[in-house]
Amino acid sequence: MACSEEGLSRIKKISSAYWQSQVLFVALRLGVFRELQDTPLPPEDLAIRLGVSPAGLEPLLTALEALGLLCRSGKAFGVEETLRPHLAEGAETDFRASAAHMDHLQASWLNLEAAVRTGRSPETKEDLSEAESRQQTEHFMEAMESFGAWTSQELVQRFPLAGNEEILDLGCGPGTFFRAFLRRYPAVRATAVDREDVIPITRRCVARDGLGARVTYLSGDFRELDLADEKWHVALLSNVMHIYPPDEVLSICRRIYSVLRPGGHLLVSDFFTDESGTRPLWGALFSLNMLLHTEGGRNYRLRDGETFLREAGFAAIRSEYLCLDSTLLIGTRPRPNIA
Ligand SMILES: C[S@@+](CC[C@H](N)C(=O)[O-])C[C@H]1O[C@@H](n2cnc3c(N)ncnc32)[C@H](O)[C@@H]1O
Repeated sequence: MACSEEGLSRIKKISSAYWQSQVLFVALRLGVFRELQDTPLPPEDLAIRLGVSPAGLEPLLTALEALGLLCRSGKAFGVEETLRPHLAEGAETDFRASAAHMDHLQASWLNLEAAVRTGRSPETKEDLSEAESRQQTEHFMEAMESFGAWTSQELVQRFPLAGNEEILDLGCGPGTFFRAFLRRYPAVRATAVDREDVIPITRRCVARDGLGARVTYLSGDFRELDLADEKWHVALLSNVMHIYPPDEVLSICRRIYSVLRPGGHLLVSDFFTDESGTRPLWGALFSLNMLLHTEGGRNYRLRDGETFLREAGFAAIRSEYLCLDSTLLIGTRPRPNIA
């Protein structure tokens, strides 16, 4: 049998991929990027600042350089120029919380075999105190904010508003998406909907942006809340569809249809894949993430998303790729034909 170097190399790369993630996670946990944010440092100085062994740090820094995350000038290591906006404190597109979330998910991914064998999310109820659970929600929301920072800006650019709309954001999390609209359009208003433990975080993010007067909050399960019919011009459903099985998604889309004004739009941002479900790779892997973390959730093909919207009554369905494997799917509630 012929040896394929490409084949061997692919298997080697996949089987060792977690080495690369570990290098990034450890650097994040130690605060390597934070310490190098403003000034490059030689390994000995950085080791003192981080309180770690110089002998251990040196190969970590070299691996970070090999991965293109750090660069070296003489003896000093610094953050690679193009990554500074994503690894720096206070940067609008700081991606560290999102990467740290992937670190956090590792523990659950160790249950993948059990999930595949049984076809369901393993029973791994963590016994968390109230404070730990609050902390977990905070971290998850930080990760959502960091992941959505760029995607939300892309979405706002692709979907211009008239400027006086009422937006309904279902499962808004920190509100990254509706806040991006509100920052751009000074007269647009939003209703933010999420669970009780999340809404205080949404409020904090809204206050930080100085948008408080234009936001109304509803806390609870959006499938059960009393939402006014035909009230909203735009409904946002961002990174929520993949949490639910198909029958739930369809009923959520139907509910959204009924609360939108005729002529109103549903904007879905999600990791939709191609027909085969394999592209983008992130989308294929995300389905496993949902197998691990939800009851029946999965990452959908773009065609599935379009079908949900069509079956719920939406028309003029179209889609556009945003960024970071997210695609925007749009459907419009038709106006009644009064001819
Ligand atoms: C993956 S996060 C996405 C947050 C935000 N839309 C974004 O894209 O950054 C999903 C959010 O939806 C909320 N969510 C999911 N199902 C919900 C439901 N039935 N009722 C209220 N909130 C829900 C979760 O609490 C969480 O904040």
